[in-house]
Order: sequence, then structure tokens, then C-alpha cells
Amino acid sequence: MMPETTNISNLMNEQRSYPPSAEFTAQANAQPGFYDQDPDEFWEREGRERLSWFTPFSTLKEWNPPYAKWYLGGKINACYNAVDRHVENGLGDKVAYYWEGEPVDDRKTITYADLQREVVKTANGFASLGIGKGTHVGVYMGMVPELVYTMLALTRLGAPFTVVFGGFSADSLSGRLNDMQCTHLITQDGSYRRGKVFDLKATADTAMDAAPSTTTSIVLKRCSNDVVMHEGRDHWWHDVVDGQSDDPASRPCEPMDSEDLMFLMYSSGTTGKPKGVVHSTAGYLAGTSTTHHYIFDIKPDTVYWCAADIGWITGHSYIVFGPLVNATTSVMYEGTPDFPDKDRWWEIIERYKVTVLYCAPTAIRTHMKWGPEYAQKHDLSTLKVIGSVGEPINPEAWVWYRDHIGGGRTPVVDTWWQTENGMVLITPLPGLSTLKPGSASKPFIGIEPAVLDDHGEEIAPGAGAGYLVVKKPWPAMLRGLYNDDARYKDTYWSRFPGVYMAGDGARVDADGDYWLMGRIDDVMNVSGHRLSTIEIESALVDHPDVAEAAVTARADALTGQAVVAFVTLKGGRDGSPEKLAELRDHVGKVIGAIAKPANIVFTPELPKTRSGKIMRRLLRDVAEHRPLGDTTTLADPTVVSEIADRAAVGKDE
Ligand code: WTA
Repeated sequence: MMPETTNISNLMNEQRSYPPSAEFTAQANAQPGFYDQDPDEFWEREGRERLSWFTPFSTLKEWNPPYAKWYLGGKINACYNAVDRHVENGLGDKVAYYWEGEPVDDRKTITYADLQREVVKTANGFASLGIGKGTHVGVYMGMVPELVYTMLALTRLGAPFTVVFGGFSADSLSGRLNDMQCTHLITQDGSYRRGKVFDLKATADTAMDAAPSTTTSIVLKRCSNDVVMHEGRDHWWHDVVDGQSDDPASRPCEPMDSEDLMFLMYSSGTTGKPKGVVHSTAGYLAGTSTTHHYIFDIKPDTVYWCAADIGWITGHSYIVFGPLVNATTSVMYEGTPDFPDKDRWWEIIERYKVTVLYCAPTAIRTHMKWGPEYAQKHDLSTLKVIGSVGEPINPEAWVWYRDHIGGGRTPVVDTWWQTENGMVLITPLPGLSTLKPGSASKPFIGIEPAVLDDHGEEIAPGAGAGYLVVKKPWPAMLRGLYNDDARYKDTYWSRFPGVYMAGDGARVDADGDYWLMGRIDDVMNVSGHRLSTIEIESALVDHPDVAEAAVTARADALTGQAVVAFVTLKGGRDGSPEKLAELRDHVGKVIGAIAKPANIVFTPELPKTRSGKIMRRLLRDVAEHRPLGDTTTLADPTVVSEIADRAAVGKDE
């Protein structure tokens, strides 16, 4: 199962290193000695000082493997910590978000006082339609300020939510609404995407038809595209929210238990059904805000921009909750990096004098492909720290990022973590770490990862690659999978009893620095988005013409990995370019455009072992156009060479 690629360029890059500058270290939030602190004392102090409590916690943590609880006995509210207390502390005039719509000149500056007024109005509006403590709410929106108001209003009311990325299909949305049994859905008429309007409401309609528990929707008018409003079910946001009181006293923040469910984030796993990753309240807030403070070196005058989408965990932790708890000024951008032109990001950095940028390696490689001249048109000299997340960053992209965006001057923080982690676990600290391009550096304080071999033995630093595990609980870790204890235990805790298995391969070098090597399971990572091979296979087989499908990934210079599907059509029919386009669209319809295969190879048969298991490793070899591995367990070895011939002429987009 381990990735067989020896990463030669990584081995060479171990030699290349960038020590922190004395100037940066002198002013850094994490000072020398940071790692020497006692982790429990550290998290105890961060919990007490960084967060405000209605009732202080009495016990730091409880660990009954595989279940952790943190900050036990406390009462707390996420919205109060993110908004109200900052206004009470005199920060009402501080900017919370500089928001930019995709259409140029569509901008808003939202102070903490504005944010509080909007969130209170929103919470009052939501309450008028029956949303209260314990109501389950689905959210399907684009990158608009109202998405942030929605998440904060729901935490103010104590209503657990799940945000579904706006690029997901109706089936993906209804699957999540049904699994969480959401009674309400917050959505919008349309969202902007590269100058076009994506019809969110029509997708939401199809999803709600298939989600009987979801009987009420609230629809924000964003693009004024035509929508059908269903009497009694659908309500316009402006009718529900606009006339409400914005007085915080009219809607106080609901005191929540530290361990109360705050939200679910569905994530692709190794089966067809996405898993509802459970995040609770206090540990999540402490973990995200603390890591945000130290990793990005947040200061009162920081202008911070995480260019992810709030529909993913990165946006939850590092656009919404982490930064707001720290009273940070953030930038939030609605659209794509190339609208209206390829310098949109750099224009935004110049306009708001952004000091911290956090984005995905795919975005960096895209900018690299477009060329540095777009960045050169703008003043990026305000940048102090630049970060990357979501996939391994190849050393070439790392160096390009530092040189062309960071002016050859800024630390680059390559942060490793997952939906399940809630917060960054392995990362450099910008004033302390000697950086190596391609390495995520060291565990954050209190995090105890290890790399294990097939037998569960720890592999010593410098001695090779294995399975990445985490041995101790951390504050923002998942509290389980929603309504599925068996799957929780099986997925993360069964391969190596007592430790959390991340599903990534990694190695540790002689300096103790971690090098991530990609997934070791049937999860792919395309443009930083997690996709499941099985989920895409199910989507393909769902098409009436498909008899069988196997999905794998090949390396891709731009997107990290690309989806390659091997498909056998019913009745021994041959594939055609039309059928290829039709199947790609079908996957887009069932899961979402991000899951469409880059390439489909039609084949009369799939290679299988005698017991009938599809030989994925072989297909991966074919997909990579690599020489074939061992085929002796194949039922019909001729199938492989035939597939390889077809793949060689297969057309990538
Ligand atoms: C991958 C995103 C290498 C990894 C926050 C992980 C990374 C999966 C890095 C989680 C990194 C994330 N270097 N690989 N810095 N960050 N990954 O749940 O394979 O969307 O398991 O969370 O992304 O993706 P997820």
C-alpha cells in the first residue's frame, strides 16, 4: 500500500535549507524555547487566555481511546468568542473582513461592530423560522459575507450545521442533508464563478426534493438569476433577516458545553459514502485560534488572507473561526484567481496591503504556469509570511512561491493537517524553523506523530518511509464520525491499535523534519480536494451504459493528482469521444465538477485477481504510463497489456 515512488528531488532538497532571519525571530509570537513548554500547561493556558468562558473548564482533557474530550465542564459560545467580546473590548471599529466580490468594484469593508449587527439580525431571522439550539442546518452558499454571518448566527443559536461546498452536485448535497437530518437549508439564488452565474438554487431544489427532512430554506439574493420559490418552503433572506433587531441583547449567545457538536464536515473516505466528521466546540476553537496565532505570526495590524473556500475545512478553521477568535483583519474573496485577469490575487494583496497569504499548492502551480509577470505588476512587499495547505508542495513550487510572491524574503509555512484534525498538526513556525522546500517541518507543540512500518514498529528518523500516525489526542481532533462509531474505529484506529492513522505516507529525516508522501489509501487529492476512488466508481456505474469501473489517480504537474477511470461498457460496446464526454458529465452531476475524470480508458475487461478484486496498483501503473508491475495474480494477464495499449492512446484533456 505504500507509495513506491522514491522522491529523489526531496532527497536533494533535504540539503537545501532556509534558517529563520534574526529580525523575524526577534518579533515572532513563538520565541525560542516554545517547544520546551509542557504541552498540557500550554493548552491549559491557551484555553483560559485565548478564549472567553461563561463557565471556566475544570479538566483539560480526558482520553478514552479512541475518544477524546477537551476543556471539560466549560460553557462557551463560538460566536461570542469570534465577535461579541471584541466589540465589548473596544475593537468594534477594527476591520474583520475586507470582502471582494468577483465582479470588480463589488467590495465591502466589514468591521467587528458591523459583523455583530449582521450576525444578530441573521440569528433573529433564523430563529423566526424555528432554528434554535440543537436544530440541524445545511448550508450551501458561495463565498459571500452572508455565509460567515450564517455560520456565526448558527453557533450563536447553538444550531449544529454542515457547510456543503458550492461546487457539489444535488446528490452530494441531499446525501449530506439526509445523513445529518437537516430541517433547514441556507442557500442563495446563484454564485459567481469566472464571470458566470452558477445556479445554486436549482441544485438546492433538486437536493431538497430528495431530502424529506429539509422542509425550510432561506435563499439569499446574490446574482438575481431566475429562481423558483416554493410557497411555504422557501423564504428570501431579505424578508427573513432585514427587518430584525441588530441589538445583541435581543439574541444573547447560547451557552454551549465545551463538547457540544458545533458542525459536521463531510469528507471523502475509502467507501462510496462521505463521512460526517464531528467537530465539537471548545477544543476546536482553542486548537484553530492557537495554531493560527503562532503559525502565521498574527499581530494586531496583520492583514491576513486565506484564499481557500469556506466549503472546506481550511475555510472553517482559517477563514472563519481561528482568525475571528484572534480578532484578526482578514481578506475574503468570492471568485477565481483569473477573473477578470490573472493578476486578480496580486491586485488584492496590493490593495489591502496583505501581510499573510495562505493557499493551496495547486494555486501556486497555476500561478507558476501563468508566469511571474502577473505578480510583478503589483507591490507584494507587505507580505511577511506565506503558507501552503492541502497537498504536498513540490520543491519547485515552494521555491517559486518564496522567490516570486515572498520576494525571496518571507518564511514559507507548509502546513500538514486534515478535515479530521480540525487544526494544523505539522508545520514550521516562522521565527524558529529552518525551512526545507517540500517538508512540513515539525509537529506543533503537544502533537506526537510517528511513522510506522507494516508491523506497527516506529521507523527511526532517517530510516525510511511508512504510515503516518498520531499517538496523542489534540484539542481540535474529530470526536468521531456522525452516527457511525464502527466506521470511526475501523478507519482510523484499527490498523494500528491505540494510535490515529492519518492515511498518509511520510518519512522523517535525520533532523526530525517530516516529509509527506501522499495518501496510502483509496483517497485521491486533486487540486487539494479530497476525492474517493470508490465514490467516483459508484458514480460511473450509476450510468446505465456502464458495466464496471475502476478509478485511480496519476501524477499531474498542475493539480497534484488527476483522476483516471477505466470503464467497461455494457454489452461489450466500444467507447467513443461522445461517451467519454457523457460519462464525465455524469460524474459531474452525481458528485460535482471537481470529481470529473481527466481521462477515461474504455476497456472490455478490468484486471482482477482470481478472487475477483480489481488490481488497482496495476491500473495506477497503467495510468502513470509506467512499466507494469507483477501480474502473476491476474486472472487474465492479457487484459493488462490491452488496457495499457488503450491508455497509451487515451486522450487527456
Ligand atoms: C493532504 C485539508 C502534504 C494529505 C486541510 C491529507 C497534505 C489530506 C498537506 C487532507 C501538506 C494536506 N503536505 N499533504 N502540507 N496538507 N495534505 O481533509 O494527504 O481536505 O491527508 O484537509 O490532504 O485533506 P483535507
